[in-house]
Amino acid sequence: MSIADPSAMNRRRLMTSLAATGALGAATLAGSEAKGATGVTESGSVAWTQAHNNNHVLELQAAGAGPSTGEVTVEYWGHCAIKITSPKGFSMIFDPWRNDPSGYWGIWFPNDFSKPVVDAGFSTHAHFDHDAINLVQATMLLDRVPGVFQFTDVTVTGVADKHACEAPGWYPWTNAIKEFGGDPCPPNNPGHMDMVTYVVETGGIRILIWGDNRHNPPDDVWQRWGRIDVLTLPVDGSQHILSYDQANGIVARLKPKVVIPTHYLCEGTSLTLSTLQPADEWVNAQKSKKKLDGATLKLNAADVAKMNGEFLYFGNNVMKT
Ligand SMILES: [Fe+2]
Ligand SMILES: [Fe+2]
Repeated sequence: MSIADPSAMNRRRLMTSLAATGALGAATLAGSEAKGATGVTESGSVAWTQAHNNNHVLELQAAGAGPSTGEVTVEYWGHCAIKITSPKGFSMIFDPWRNDPSGYWGIWFPNDFSKPVVDAGFSTHAHFDHDAINLVQATMLLDRVPGVFQFTDVTVTGVADKHACEAPGWYPWTNAIKEFGGDPCPPNNPGHMDMVTYVVETGGIRILIWGDNRHNPPDDVWQRWGRIDVLTLPVDGSQHILSYDQANGIVARLKPKVVIPTHYLCEGTSLTLSTLQPADEWVNAQKSKKKLDGATLKLNAADVAKMNGEFLYFGNNVMKT
């Protein structure tokens, strides 16, 4: 390739971003896929294959919004996948995962995500361990959407920011982007290093889905998050996304009532090949913590208000279908 050849440069840029996300590779996804004119795999919607329909959404729509009081259910579906069900029963799953379809990043998960039925599916960013929205049966999908979504007793506020771009742990995974000629950090990062975090407000509780966001966003982002009662954070023993110090700094700034670790090695759900480790070391170092004995957590606003930085750790407890 000549460096002066603009088409070659464009191809190289495309390959760089795809290789870094794992989006480059053979047509292995379920559903409708075909090779596009570029020779790169393109994926299309698979929603037309769903047996599930929108009857539940129609029921909620007919019932109207009204006050949101009662229990909020939080379920852990492994890695960064969290399902939240509002008191009125509106269900959302965030960051369903899959294996890297290119194979560049190895096999992280021994099984496929199990296509749970939910009202809405969300993804924070276009990395394989967060973007398997084709593996949920959802009436609606919101992929990397900033702004406000409001339905029934749920308001979700998407806040755009950037991915963590300097690996703080022993595994310098961000170097792989540089080795392909890209810059992982803003402002010239490839699109797969863009992020949308979500603040989910329901039942009087505000839950922040952090995804793989950087630890040091600008003030505007902190202000948009506002009060956070329940904070999910990607922390594992290898400090793959956030270091312990970075995560502790976020907790100190947001002062959540509850902290839920994500993005760690889960026995039976994720593999050592991911290079991740459990989150036990970080959790054990906290003043106030509880290791949950199941994959489901029921929260109500009154109980949450009495907590003060309580770490609630799902460990290896993951929902199975
Ligand atoms: Fe990521
Ligand atoms: Fe991730």
